[in-house]
Amino acid sequence: MRRGAIRPTRAPRNAPQGGWILSAHREETVRRLAAPDIAARKGGAPIVCLTAYTAPVAAALDEACDLLLVGDSVGMVVHGLPNTVGVTMEMMILHGQAVMRGSRKAMVVVDMPFGAYEASHEQAYANAVRIMKETGAQAVKVESGPTVPETIAYLTKRGVPVMGHVGLRPQAVLMEGGFKAKGRDEAERAKVLEEARLTAEAGAFAIVVEGVAESLAREVTEAVAVPTIGIGASAGCDGQVLVVDDMLGLFDWTPKFVRRYADLKGEIQRAAAQYARDVRDRSFPGPAETYYAKKA
Ligand code: KIV
Repeated sequence: MRRGAIRPTRAPRNAPQGGWILSAHREETVRRLAAPDIAARKGGAPIVCLTAYTAPVAAALDEACDLLLVGDSVGMVVHGLPNTVGVTMEMMILHGQAVMRGSRKAMVVVDMPFGAYEASHEQAYANAVRIMKETGAQAVKVESGPTVPETIAYLTKRGVPVMGHVGLRPQAVLMEGGFKAKGRDEAERAKVLEEARLTAEAGAFAIVVEGVAESLAREVTEAVAVPTIGIGASAGCDGQVLVVDDMLGLFDWTPKFVRRYADLKGEIQRAAAQYARDVRDRSFPGPAETYYAKKA
C-alpha cells in the first residue's frame, strides 16, 4: 500500500453488521455501533452525528462521532447540484461504500434519494436492501412525508433499520418553493408532530428533526420514544447533526444554525497559493521530494 494512503478497516464481506469486526490492519477488534445502540441513547448522552461522503473524511470523523450520515446533501455539497432532487441511487451507493471503508466504529446511515422509495413499498424495500447489501451500512434514512410512515413500517418489519426525517424535508423543495423552516403556525406544528409520532410508531430507530423552532423540537422530542437528532432544531433534541463541509468552513455562506469549527476553504486557498509560488519559483520539488538514480 502507498505510504500515507488510507488503510481500510472494512469488515470481511460476511461479517455480521453491528457485531465484532476484525480490523486486519490494526489487529484489534472494534464493535461498530448499530440501530439498537443509538435507540438506547434516548434521553441520555447526546448523540453526535455528522454527514460524511468520502473515505478520508469518514476516517477523520469516526473517533468523534456516534453516527455518520451519508446524506443526500452530497448532491449539493460535493456534486454542486442546486438541491437534492437530482441525487441517484448510484451516487448514494458509491459514497456509502467510501464512508464504510473509511470508518470502523461509527454507525453509518445512508439516505435513500428522492424517487427511490415513494412509488411503492416494494420499490422502497428493493432499494433499501440494495443500499444495505452494496454499501454494508447499518441503516437507511427516509424523509417522513405524510405517506412515508407506512413505508417505514413495511421496511422495519422486513429487517431494514430506518431513520426518519421530519420538519424541513429537503426532498420536498420543489413542492414547497424553497428550503423553509417548519412549525411557524399551529397547523404546521401539529403536522410535524404527527409525522414524528407516526414515524416512531412505524419502527424508526431515530428521527432527524430539521429546521424547526426550539419549542417544537422539544415537543417532538418529548412525544416520541426514539432519539431525535436535530439540525437547525435547537438543543432540545437527543443529538445533533451538521453537514460536515458547513462546520469545517468549506463554504463562504452557512445557515444561521451552523457553527464553523474550522476555515478549511481559507486553509486550502492558503496552501494552493503557497504551492503555486513554489512551482513558479522552482523551489518545489526540492531535493527531499525528488527521486535520484542509484550511483553506479
Ligand atoms: O442529507 C443530509 O445531509 C441530511 C442532513 C441535513 C440531516 O439529511
